Amino acid sequence: MQMRPLGSSGLLVTPVCLGTMTFGTPVSEADSISLIHAAIDLGINFIDTANVYEGYRRFLGSAGGVAEEIVGKALRDRRDKMIVATKVGAPLGPGPQDRGLSAVHILREVERSLRRLQTDVIDLYIIHWPDKQVPLDVTLEAIDTIVRQGKVRYFGASNHAAWQLCEMLWLADRHARPPVISSQIPFSLLRREFQHDLNFCQQHGIGVTPYQALQGGLLTGKYRRGQAPPADSRAAEKPDWMWKTDEGLFDRLEGIERLAAEAGVSMTRFALSWALTQPAMSSLIVGAKRREQVEDAVAAADVRLASELIQKADAVCPPPWRQPDPIRG
Ligand SMILES: NC(=O)c1ccc[n+]([C@@H]2O[C@H](COP(=O)([O-])OP(=O)(O)OC[C@H]3O[C@@H](n4cnc5c(N)ncnc54)[C@H](OP(=O)(O)O)[C@@H]3O)[C@@H](O)[C@H]2O)c1
Repeated sequence: MQMRPLGSSGLLVTPVCLGTMTFGTPVSEADSISLIHAAIDLGINFIDTANVYEGYRRFLGSAGGVAEEIVGKALRDRRDKMIVATKVGAPLGPGPQDRGLSAVHILREVERSLRRLQTDVIDLYIIHWPDKQVPLDVTLEAIDTIVRQGKVRYFGASNHAAWQLCEMLWLADRHARPPVISSQIPFSLLRREFQHDLNFCQQHGIGVTPYQALQGGLLTGKYRRGQAPPADSRAAEKPDWMWKTDEGLFDRLEGIERLAAEAGVSMTRFALSWALTQPAMSSLIVGAKRREQVEDAVAAADVRLASELIQKADAVCPPPWRQPDPIRG
């Protein structure tokens, strides 16, 4: 796999990053550790977790921590093999300080993440969701503090629009805070609402690390029109985690399947390699239940799609409309 820059950070990451949202359940601790070791053996150098992740058992306000603990155990004797990203901000309890992007919450949670991850430093610390209750500069000041303390190396954002990233860069410039270097957004052939933000990221040195490039498995070809989902699939085990379906979904999936056949690759590899052709892409965060799924993602990173097929994909799954920019196109 050819490494890619993670924005302007100077870090080089593999085009595939291992996601950990399912660690704990349905992927047991032992299997999760084996998956992490397999990912390292396959050349992956980037892992994404969050303080809230605890697999399918997660409910709004549950305490989290399970996936970070597993990552800590797996990397105990190989910490230098992985760039470790984790997130803060999602609800972890009922109290007002148990969530969000206040200094109190961030300064407390970073300690907990460090302890669970069994590390001295988090390579990439990501604010999970926007928090409209907290002034952005309060959050950036807390991030600045933990960067200066050596607990965090780089700062990233997740689920933020380009205008919010712009505000972060502006405040960072104004108050000499750490700049945002990565953007983690939902992005796949089926979900392109952040499409036009990618150019902003490209222009401003922000590496995009999208999640759900396989749309939770929908883009693997294992779900068929009119058929029940396979027994051990996410749609069978945890349907409320699946993306909404609409009438045209299977038309689009079948259209993509035809393009994948034209390219001579599986639908999974088509969907992932297509995502990697998009602007500012640093690394796709891919979830996996088995080693073969990680192998599939790694193989996808070496697929080169013909530009004609990339254009045809736009016809099957069009990007959102936007006002044409007469200056930059
Ligand atoms: N920042 C955020 O708000 C946010 C939100 C969501 C996720 N994330 C991150 O993104 C990561 C990925 O998210 P995700 O797991 O929901 O999405 P995903 O990568 O689109 O889907 C992964 C799931 O698809 C199935 N799959 C993967 N490869 C396959 C293959 N080759 N053949 C057949 N099935 C395959 C597996 O599920 P089954 O085998 O069980 O069907 C796997 O768990 C998470 O782990 C997390 O790190 C971040």
